[in-house]
Amino acid sequence: MKITKPLNLGLAALAGLAFACGGGEKSTETTTTPAVESTPAEPAQEMSLEEKYKDDPIYIKGLAKLKTSDCTTCHMVERKIVGPSYADVAAKYESTEENIEKLAQKVIEGGVGVWGEVPMPPHPTLSMEDAKDMVAYVLLLK
Ligand code: HEC
Repeated sequence: MKITKPLNLGLAALAGLAFACGGGEKSTETTTTPAVESTPAEPAQEMSLEEKYKDDPIYIKGLAKLKTSDCTTCHMVERKIVGPSYADVAAKYESTEENIEKLAQKVIEGGVGVWGEVPMPPHPTLSMEDAKDMVAYVLLLK
């Protein structure tokens, strides 16, 4: 016994065939809906912290001093490596005279336990003034 498809179904099958050419299959059951790609709106490109503060005198002075020491071996501005990123440190401490002094002391003496198990080695040859300029630069990066 033969089943005759209604005309509209036949047309739908034909439309399907136009897409599915070369399949070699008798069945007409596949209806492929093309995946709709939703492109999420691009977040506005934020300025890097380096870019944001590059003209600030605290930034310029602190960075110049940082470059004379070994800080960059363990710290990056926006990425944690051995030590926390400067941006993370800046987010944790307000840039007050008290915090700058406390952290400068820590850079000179070294320390561990605030960010994890890895210690920061001491920097005994650093003067308090230089250490404070470095820390002021770090705390600016927010
Ligand atoms: C050998 C790797 C290393 C070097 C070199 C290094 N640091 Fe660190 N630093 C660390 C680690 C690890 C910590 C996290 C210490 C902790 O958890 O208490 C840290 C923490 C800090 C903090 C945050 C301290 C706190 O208590 O939150 C500051 C500020 C800092 N470093 C600045 C500097 C400066 C400035 C220099 C260069 C004079 C420097 N570091 C050199 C590894 C290093």
